[in-house]
Amino acid sequence: MLSLRPFTIEDIPRLIQEIPDRRFLMQWAGPLYQWPLTGDQILHHLQNDSRPPGRSRIFKAVTRKNDTVGTCELAAIDPLKSSARLSRILIYRHARNRGLGIRMLDRLLRIAFEEMRLCRLALNVFDFNHAAIRCYEHLGFQREAVLENARQVEAEFWNSIIMALRAEEWRKGTAE
Ligand SMILES: CC(C)(COP(=O)(O)OP(=O)(O)OC[C@H]1O[C@@H](n2cnc3c(N)ncnc32)[C@H](O)[C@@H]1OP(=O)(O)O)[C@@H](O)C(=O)NCCC(=O)NCCS
Repeated sequence: MLSLRPFTIEDIPRLIQEIPDRRFLMQWAGPLYQWPLTGDQILHHLQNDSRPPGRSRIFKAVTRKNDTVGTCELAAIDPLKSSARLSRILIYRHARNRGLGIRMLDRLLRIAFEEMRLCRLALNVFDFNHAAIRCYEHLGFQREAVLENARQVEAEFWNSIIMALRAEEWRKGTAE
């Protein structure tokens, strides 16, 4: 069993340990944070996102044995458009490739679509991030667009894919 709980200040040091370098930071978090990642940056994000309340919700994924295995976020929550963005999806190194990414996101989608009654979720993923793309496709996300050269990292330009999932499609998928 995997449950999602609010990510708190106490979870920051562990999260920082999971981000080894500048490239990984961009892959995981986009341009939100600067390398080297510090506790202050995460704290700032955590605190700013509670003002105005409800614009972002940050979770940690915890196993039945109380092992924290990842984090995920619903960002840019827009009550008028009834939409949000899946952001900063991370399964910690020791727990990858065991299906936990899909399970963590399954819980997140239930919160977004059932509890919060959102209608649409979108996300950005770099085109080389096959594990993440596979995970999102499993959950029903579809590719909507490719942004060529969306980010520059050192001397490279990375392409970003926009993926989205509507609540009706998700409900159809869970009913099957
Ligand atoms: C993306 C991530 C969250 C996936 O979590 P995970 O627990 O390792 O993934 P799962 O075990 O649930 O596997 C999901 C699917 O990806 C596949 N997969 C895993 N690693 C893969 C790889 N390196 N290449 C291709 N597919 C891969 C799995 O086989 C599975 O698909 P399948 O069921 O069809 O076999 C995790 O790899 C991660 O934290 N990555 C680093 C941070 C990141 O890039 N976040 C996403 C930002 S958009």
